[in-house]
Amino acid sequence: MRLGALLYAFGGDNPVGWRHPSTAGWGPNDIGYTIELARIAERGKLDLLFFADMAAVPDGPPSALARGVAKAARIDPLVTITALAAATSHIGVAATASTSYWEPYNLARLLASIDHVSGGRAGWNVVTSDRNEVARNFGDDGLRPREERYARAAEFVDVVLGLWDSWEEDALVVDRAGGRFLDPELVHRLDHDGDHFRVEGPLNVSRTPQGRPVIAEAGSSEPGRRLAAATADVVFSAFSDVAAARAFADDIRDRAAVLGRSPDEIAILESLTVTVAATEDEARAKARWLRENTPIEVGLWSMTEHLGADLSHLPLDEPVPRDALPTEAPGSQGLFDALVTFISEGSTLRECVRRFAEVRSGSGIVGSAEQVADHMQARFEAGANDGFMLQFPQLPTDLSDVTDHLVPELQRRGLFRTEYAGTTLRENLGIDVPANRWTRVPTA
Ligand SMILES: Cc1cc2nc3c(=O)[nH]c(=O)nc-3n(C[C@H](O)[C@H](O)[C@H](O)COP(=O)(O)O)c2cc1C
Repeated sequence: MRLGALLYAFGGDNPVGWRHPSTAGWGPNDIGYTIELARIAERGKLDLLFFADMAAVPDGPPSALARGVAKAARIDPLVTITALAAATSHIGVAATASTSYWEPYNLARLLASIDHVSGGRAGWNVVTSDRNEVARNFGDDGLRPREERYARAAEFVDVVLGLWDSWEEDALVVDRAGGRFLDPELVHRLDHDGDHFRVEGPLNVSRTPQGRPVIAEAGSSEPGRRLAAATADVVFSAFSDVAAARAFADDIRDRAAVLGRSPDEIAILESLTVTVAATEDEARAKARWLRENTPIEVGLWSMTEHLGADLSHLPLDEPVPRDALPTEAPGSQGLFDALVTFISEGSTLRECVRRFAEVRSGSGIVGSAEQVADHMQARFEAGANDGFMLQFPQLPTDLSDVTDHLVPELQRRGLFRTEYAGTTLRENLGIDVPANRWTRVPTA
């Protein structure tokens, strides 16, 4: 079982996690806080830390922004993972960067650089961005249509992979005595000329310690699945229903097989929000603290921002009319469909807010280590995933409880490693170094 930790915001995913006493003494810009999290996760032998991101302050009403959005202020995740690379030795460090608002050359260079700095532990979560406020920071009035975003994304990833291949393994010679720095025969131009990008190459960073950084993707739409099946090493999924999760995983594996990839080359990690503790009562007390301290306007806004529909004028304790929603999902199709389901089941607005908060970060679970491990083992053995991308309502406590209680339970069951397999992210995920397109395989 592979395990990652998604660190979204200072204090954790819950909008009031930042107020918890365990964050005392830290602030959202303290790298020391994040290093502390990384060390806790590395103590638990987790595969990777992943920093989700969007390049904008969430566009919310001042009342909600003021009260509960730690993610309104956060340092760039590529800077964060570079700092973490220097403070850790085995855990993978991955971050989101959007194909809609970067250029392939500078992002390929940054990520390859982080792979060198980390000794082969870098990962990139490829996103097309699903928020209008991000688009407005880059000259657009709102998001481009999904097909257009993904067309650019597919070309973007293609260029990045080409640039990462532009240096063959042995191209960097650094022979001081012989006075030979590199072998020009092994450094290749890309000469890409496509619909969105013209890039000559080669990259000015040599082949990286794990061949190339690990690529993660989380799209669940048709073009998102196409891209993931073709290019991802890690796929994040977020379905609370186990059959739906299994169907998604099978779909990605089948699509990859059609493209000539082995399903073993892709690790499917399911989002799972965990609140675990030494006992079930303690775990429930942690969840209660967050619930009791979360203002309803913050939860309501979280729904609004994902759905492009403001429901705050509706009565809280009456069923939500179906026509209150737009006819099409402005961002995530999966989250939109979940809300349509709640509404068709007659949920009140207050119930929708609660249920939406649960599915937003995957299926949530609160319990003792045994209870949480049972849940994970059942889904894992049902073929719904190759592991989990854990999310934490409250940090650092929920992460340290994972390391102290859940990981030992998973190890006891033989489901999770007790030592790292190697020092690169690919080694730890059990994913091979991809062949360089230029390198001739010697014939036997
Ligand atoms: C675990 C996980 C992490 C994600 N992280 C980000 C992120 O950091 N930034 C972002 O813009 N979108 C993020 N997303 C959203 C996805 O990239 C994608 O937009 C969403 O799943 C909708 O997919 P679709 O556009 O193919 O429908 C994440 C999704 C999941 C499940």
